[in-house]
Amino acid sequence: MQTAEPKSWLARNESDIAIVDRYRLLIDAVRDYAIFMLDPGGRVASWNPGAQRIKGYSSDEIVGRHFSVFYTPDDIASGKPSRLLEAAALYGRIEDEGWRVRKDGSRFWANVVITAVHDDQDALVGFAKITRDMTERRRLEELERAHAASALTQQARENEQKRIARELHDDLGQRIAALKMALTLHGTALAGASPTQMHGELEAIAQIGTQVDALAVAVRRIAADLRPAMLDDLGLQAALEWLAEDFQNRYGVTIQCQLDISEPDLGEFAATALFRVVQEALTNVARHAHAHRVTIELQNDAKDCRLRVSDDGVGFDPLAAARPDAFGLMGMRERILQLGGLLTVESHPGTGVTISAELRLPLDIHSALTGAAR
Ligand SMILES: Nc1ncnc2c1ncn2[C@@H]1O[C@H](COP(=O)(O)OP(=O)(O)OP(=O)(O)O)[C@@H](O)[C@H]1O
Ligand SMILES: [Mg+2]
Repeated sequence: MQTAEPKSWLARNESDIAIVDRYRLLIDAVRDYAIFMLDPGGRVASWNPGAQRIKGYSSDEIVGRHFSVFYTPDDIASGKPSRLLEAAALYGRIEDEGWRVRKDGSRFWANVVITAVHDDQDALVGFAKITRDMTERRRLEELERAHAASALTQQARENEQKRIARELHDDLGQRIAALKMALTLHGTALAGASPTQMHGELEAIAQIGTQVDALAVAVRRIAADLRPAMLDDLGLQAALEWLAEDFQNRYGVTIQCQLDISEPDLGEFAATALFRVVQEALTNVARHAHAHRVTIELQNDAKDCRLRVSDDGVGFDPLAAARPDAFGLMGMRERILQLGGLLTVESHPGTGVTISAELRLPLDIHSALTGAAR
């Protein structure tokens, strides 16, 4: 036997369910949004099941009460609820995101849209308010940001380790291998040496002594690269001047420093980050730029701190896809982002490279760190 399909209310005769009831049914069916009306004074005038689910009040408990009960004591003290209504009345619609309070006192992160409702004569008759509980979404986003930040940190650490390994291999490893070979040779020669030969061997041993001194310098340099003691002892300005001079001596590139770091003290975290950015920028100059001149400028006043490192080398296209194993520029950006600042790279092939970083002062390291994960 065939049973008649139950007709949806949409298909039923309009007289059956009035338009206004259709809207009521629609709003009652929505469970993910609190949808309700406020009278012009901000008292709750209607309530839907979504509102009950999100905020915990039944319709009987909340209709007639002022909507400021949904706000935190701080927001109430600062007059936020009435400010939002005023803004909605003025602009027609206002959107806000922030903490709201449930009936049981627990908090949730809400996205709220308040829309002013007018009658045919354009008189304000109240507000439609739609609230969405974003707590879970926010938690997931924070988790994702934390994952991304820790992946970047991990990547930066691995990158740093790779660089150290390369330095140790290319520099110390080769010097040690050369010393070992020299010692073996002279050991063999000494075994059957005559007095005149002995003189020559002593000279050779003196040369090995010179190489050992060079080895000690290399070890000190690598150690200084790892943690520039200069930064702790003499501060950022002197450490940058030392870095520039060392670079100039090593690569024969002329460096001009314009450093004007005044109070307030940037702090260890920012000083290390700025030092590392300059260090990586100079490493890039040595490896890629074929430059003759480099300028390092650093200035700060009470409000901000500006760093610029520019070279006159071959340049590159910063918009071209980066090599997946290139982490230098990414690491620089990340360090400055961690301080709540911004790093930009300007270059065109043939025109050299300018790296600029800007930091707002005073630094709020805590919010900068959480901001970095954003
Ligand atoms: N000063 C510069 N002059 C010319 N090209 C540059 C300069 N700085 C960066 N580049 C280009 O940008 C690319 C990315 O630089 P980045 O520092 O991120 O990586 P990398 O130096 O290649 O490797 P590493 O991860 O060891 O730093 C470089 O490979 C190079 O092509
Ligand atoms: Mg690099």
